[in-house]
Amino acid sequence: MVDAPLNIVVLAAGQGKRMCSQKSKVLHEIAGRSMLAHVLASARSLLPNKLIVVHGFDGDRVKAEISEDDVIWVEQRERLGTGHAVLQAVPYLEGGITLILYGDVPFISGRTLKDLVQLCDGDQMSLLTAIINDPAGYGRIVRGFDGKVSQIVEHKDANAQILEIKEVNTGFMAIPTCCLKEWLGKLNCNNSQGEYYLTDIIAMAGQSGLGIGTMHPSDLIEITGVNDKVQLAQLEREYQRKNAFALMESGVQLADPNRIDVRGTLVCGKDVYIDVNCVFEGEVRLGDGVCVGPFNLIKDATILDNTRIEPHCHLVKCFIGKDAVVGPYARLRPNTQIEDSVRIGNFVEVKASHIGLGSKVNHLSYIGDAEIGEGVNVGAGTVTCNYDGVNKHKTVIQDKAFIGSGTMLVAPVQVGSGATVGAGSTITDSVEAGDLAIARSRQINIAHWESPFARKKQ
Ligand code: UD1
Ligand code: CA
Repeated sequence: MVDAPLNIVVLAAGQGKRMCSQKSKVLHEIAGRSMLAHVLASARSLLPNKLIVVHGFDGDRVKAEISEDDVIWVEQRERLGTGHAVLQAVPYLEGGITLILYGDVPFISGRTLKDLVQLCDGDQMSLLTAIINDPAGYGRIVRGFDGKVSQIVEHKDANAQILEIKEVNTGFMAIPTCCLKEWLGKLNCNNSQGEYYLTDIIAMAGQSGLGIGTMHPSDLIEITGVNDKVQLAQLEREYQRKNAFALMESGVQLADPNRIDVRGTLVCGKDVYIDVNCVFEGEVRLGDGVCVGPFNLIKDATILDNTRIEPHCHLVKCFIGKDAVVGPYARLRPNTQIEDSVRIGNFVEVKASHIGLGSKVNHLSYIGDAEIGEGVNVGAGTVTCNYDGVNKHKTVIQDKAFIGSGTMLVAPVQVGSGATVGAGSTITDSVEAGDLAIARSRQINIAHWESPFARKKQ
C-alpha cells in the first residue's frame, strides 16, 4: 500500500494519575521537550496526510503547548480504553493506512515507524512487538502452531500459561483504515478492566484472514513508556547515556558520559572536549577543537574552532568566533556576537552586543547594546549604562580604544578609535578618535591632616 494515504493517531488522553501532577502526562518534558512533542516529531517524519491527537485531561493546555497547526485535535471525554480512544478519531480518517502512536512513549523513531508502515499492505496489518525479560503489565502476543499471531491477551486477563509469554505488545500498529473502522465498531468491554481494548482487533484480523506482520524495534528505548516521575527520570537518563555514547563514537571526548545533558541537538566538530556537568539546550554547534570546561550551560549557540569555554558560564543565543576564551563565570545573553580571539573574563555580562576581533573584556563588566571594534581593551568594572528607564541606547567603541577600569559609559555615547578613557570616568559625551577623556572630579590632598584617630591618641 505504498503511496496510500497515511493517518497517524496519537493516543494522549490518559491523565497519568501516577505522575501526581496538575498537567497532562504527555506535557512532561524529557530531554528538554514534551513527550508529546517528541512523538509528533517522529510522526511528522512520515509526512502523514492526517495527524490526529486524541486528548482528554488538561486538553486546552495540551493544545496550547503544541504550536504547530498540522494537528487535528479530538477529545475523548470518557476514558473507556485504547479502542474507544481510537474510535474518537474515526470521523477524521482517510482511507489507506492508519498508524497508532502513544503520547507517553516519546522515543519511537521515524525509522521504525516507516518500517512498520511498509510492513502493512493490502494483505496484512503490522504490529510492533518486543521480547522482554519481565513482561509484567504488557499485553502478550499469542501465536498459533503455525507461528502466526492469533490474539493479544492483556496481562490482567491472562492465565498462567499466557503469562509465561515474553513477546509483548508495544501498542504500535499499522492497519488498513477500512478494516480498523469495521473492527472498532465491533469491540466490546467484556474483560477484567471493562475497557474497549484496541488489542482485540488482532483476533478479528486473524479471523478475517488479514495477515499480521510483526517486527521489533531496533532499541527498547523506542517502546519505553512513562507512567510516573521515577520512570520519567529513568528514561531521561537512558536517553542521555545513549546520546553521550553516540557523541563519543563520533569523536567527541567526554570527561564523563554520565554527566552531560543534551536537551536538543549538539553538533560537534573534531576533537571537541567536554568536561563534566555541562547542559546543552536547543541547537548548539561546536567547531573543531572547542573545549568546554565543567559546569557550563550553553543554549542555541555557535562556537567556532579552538575556542575555550572556561567553567561556570551561561551562554544563550550567541555566536562566538575562533580562538576565543570565555569565562570562567561569564554570561552571554541573546544576540551577542563575539569575534575571533576575543577574551571575555570572569563576571562579565554581555547582551545584544558585537565585540570585534581580539578585543578584551576581562573582569566584572556589563556590556549591553554595544558595538565594540577590534583590539579594544575594556577595563575592569566597566558598565554601559544603556537604559534610561524607558529606552535602550547604544554604546559604540571603535578599534583599539582603551577604556580604563571603573568607567561608566552613559549611552548613547561613542568612543573613537584609538581613544583612551581614564579610569573611573563617567562618560556622557562622545570621545573623538585618538583623544584622552577623563571625567571624574580631581583628587584633593589635604596636607598634614590630623585624623580623629590621631587626635584621640594624643
Ligand atoms: C496497552 C495495551 C497493551 C500494551 C501496552 C504497552 C491495550 C488494551 N493494551 O496497555 O497490550 O502491552 O499498552 O504499553 O491497548 N489511552 C487513551 N484513552 C484511553 C485509554 C488509554 O488515550 O481510554 C492512552 C493512554 O494515555 C496511554 C495509552 O493509551 O498513552 C495506553 O493506555 P494504557 O491504559 O496505559 O494501556 P496499557 O494498560 O498499558
Ligand atoms: Ca501503559
